[in-house]
Amino acid sequence: MINPINKITILLIGALLTLSPVIVLGSASPKDIIENECSKCHSTVIVYSAKKSEEEWTKTVDRMISYGTKLPENERKTIIHYLSEKK
Ligand code: HEC
Repeated sequence: MINPINKITILLIGALLTLSPVIVLGSASPKDIIENECSKCHSTVIVYSAKKSEEEWTKTVDRMISYGTKLPENERKTIIHYLSEKK
C-alpha cells in the first residue's frame, strides 16, 4: 500500500529525473541567462552597467533570487563570476 506522501515523492523524483538532462544540457552562457532571466523584471542595462565585486554581485543576485529569479546553483555561480569579471 503506497501512502499519498510516498506517491508525491515518487512523482517528484520522476519529474526531477525527466528534467535533469534539460538542466545539464541547458547550461546556458552567462549572456543567455541574463537575457532570459534577468530581463523578466527590469532592463538588462542596469545589469550590464552595474560595477560590483564578486561579493557584491553575490548579494545582488541572491536578492534577485529572493524576488523570484529562477536560477539553479550552477547558473547562479556562472553569472556571479561573469558579472564580477566584466569591465
Ligand atoms: C523577480 C524580479 C527580478 C528578477 C527576475 C531580477 N531582478 Fe534585479 N531587480 C529587481 C528589483 C525589484 C530591483 C530594484 C530593487 C532592488 O534593487 O532591490 C532590481 C534591481 C537590480 C539591480 C540594481 C540594484 C543593484 O543592487 O545594483 C541590479 C544590478 C539587478 N537587479 C540585477 C539583476 C540580475 C543580475 C538578475 C538576474 C540574475 C536580476 N536582477 C533579475 C527584480 C528582479
